[in-house]
Amino acid sequence: MLDEKKKIIYSAMQPSGYPSLGNYLGALKNWKNLKDDFDCIFSIANMHAITVRQDSANLRKKTRDLITLFIAIGLDPEKNIIYYQSDVPAHAELSWILNCFTYMGELNRMTQFKEKSSKHSENINSGLFTYPVLMAADILLYQTDVVPVGEDQRQHLEICRDIAERFNNIYGEVFKIPEGFIPKVGARIMGLQNPSKKMSKSESDNDNNVIYILDDLNLIRNKIKRSVTDSDNEIRYGEDKPGISNLLNIYSAVTGKSSEDSENEFRGVGYGEFKEAVAEAVIKEIRPIQEKYRELSSDKAYIDSVIKEGADKASYIANKTLRKVKKKVGFPQ
Ligand code: TRP
Repeated sequence: MLDEKKKIIYSAMQPSGYPSLGNYLGALKNWKNLKDDFDCIFSIANMHAITVRQDSANLRKKTRDLITLFIAIGLDPEKNIIYYQSDVPAHAELSWILNCFTYMGELNRMTQFKEKSSKHSENINSGLFTYPVLMAADILLYQTDVVPVGEDQRQHLEICRDIAERFNNIYGEVFKIPEGFIPKVGARIMGLQNPSKKMSKSESDNDNNVIYILDDLNLIRNKIKRSVTDSDNEIRYGEDKPGISNLLNIYSAVTGKSSEDSENEFRGVGYGEFKEAVAEAVIKEIRPIQEKYRELSSDKAYIDSVIKEGADKASYIANKTLRKVKKKVGFPQ
């Protein structure tokens, strides 16, 4: 099933919200190009999603919408393993075992836990605390070589490596120690209203801050038109120009042009015209994805079969590691 010569890449995305243009340009768009060099495994981390309260019907829908979107952006299920985390019980099983090899003190240092528990002070559950252990289980079950993650997950990858090394020190080489990977191409997209912070719903109350991949195309155009800029009317990169720099980055990321070429292209152009060009470029990228997404959404049998096959392929690999681990810790065979 896996090509022995290729390295294994594993990543996951939570279905707690719809992907933004930032998620797309920073992660998803790059994922589809990895398959030539790696064996790729991508999961929908719905077990992580319930660490904050979710509406069940809504979570179920968003989980399915996300796997549909994975395929729509070009992750071919024949060439990548894509699956629901909750479909592979090995994640929960290994997570429990790894909990017993993880110290409270280590988990206490996780900045994301601190942030999330202050944001959800009414629901600081143990799942939120042991979230990095489940993530370690995700990664380690597949003998992953490489994990493409954003800056915000770096600490979680570090603890995953520590847990794996600790386990290996006791029981021998059970787990591959994964490396982090910040893709070469992959843009860091900032908010349209708050360009000093990454494009995220939680960074601004303004609905125009974030573009979602499934936004109506006219809405996308309007959000870009309303994005904050500055008053000097010059299109160039600059620390003093976070709004314009961000739009230039978005333009470069969707067109594949270099930053310099994008900057040169708009020299002397007014802000209105520039925003129009950025909007057009984004829409050109997003439109076919939305069309594909709608087509796939109506093909229930196909999506069902992708989910089923993904779960089977993932389980096969995950169970091999889990069997080894159970044996090592002394569970009956
Ligand atoms: N915690 C990650 C996030 O919120 C998602 C995730 C879950 C993940 N399991 C993973 C990422 C394993 C990489 C590898 O972005």
